[in-house]
Amino acid sequence: MKSNLIKDVILNPSRLPSHVAIIMDGNGRWAKKRLMNRVLGHEQGSQTVRSIVTAAREIGIGTLTLYAFSTENWARPKSEVKALMMLLKKFIVSERQTLLKNNIRLNIIGQKHKLPQDVQNEIDATMALTINNDAMLLNLALSYGSREEITTAVKKIARKIESRELSFEDITQDLISDHLYTKAMPDPDLIIRTSGEYRLSNFLLWQAAYSEIYISDTLWPDFTKDEFIEILKNFQERDRRFGKVTCSTSNGG
Ligand code: IPE
Ligand code: IPE
Ligand code: MG
Repeated sequence: MKSNLIKDVILNPSRLPSHVAIIMDGNGRWAKKRLMNRVLGHEQGSQTVRSIVTAAREIGIGTLTLYAFSTENWARPKSEVKALMMLLKKFIVSERQTLLKNNIRLNIIGQKHKLPQDVQNEIDATMALTINNDAMLLNLALSYGSREEITTAVKKIARKIESRELSFEDITQDLISDHLYTKAMPDPDLIIRTSGEYRLSNFLLWQAAYSEIYISDTLWPDFTKDEFIEILKNFQERDRRFGKVTCSTSNGG
């Protein structure tokens, strides 16, 4: 994919974050401001997803994780949950060929088994079709909650100890990481949250230990690739110390 995006801005390709994670928030407020139904905000938000996935691929981000539906979001009104699932299915189907063409692999983090069966089927089809793509990994966080993820990991480890596949001494930070949905992925270097909320809302709590955090006031449907690039530039100016006193020379993972 050829683009003039990188040459137009001063992004240092050697200091790109390996993994960017985004809490896509503000769809409801975007709709409310226009006296529209919240669902129309989600619909507009899915257009933003399209443009940011393309932008991330053009820029050369290795892993992009998008928080699309949390374990807590099931408690929203039934009609909103239903509309979100419908939009999700539509997105997965409509983007299938684009993901394939752009060499993007789709993956899900979260309780995929809790999604409606028809949504799961479309996800499985797109995941299978894109399994060998290696230019970018697109993680959709669906029915994702960090506490659920960690609890499930602890249970899996406990079972392995019970069956003597593992021993108590085998429990390390790496072992725990290897039992999370993000197994084998770099931790997010950068977490962006839109809509001006200063919280993580149960997102990647373990993985965010040393993530750089950027809060944007922009509501997700209004978020653009230009702002995304500005945020990446801001990231590249940061000094990641990881608890040490020396200045880092590299921001990337
Ligand atoms: C984010 O937008 C999308 C989801 C959580 C599914 P919201 O729906 O949370 O929008 P606000 O926060 O109400 O504006
Ligand atoms: C976080 O947004 C979840 C997603 C973006 C999918 P929420 O809107 O659910 O978070 P809170 O309720 O403001 O913390
Ligand atoms: Mg919200």
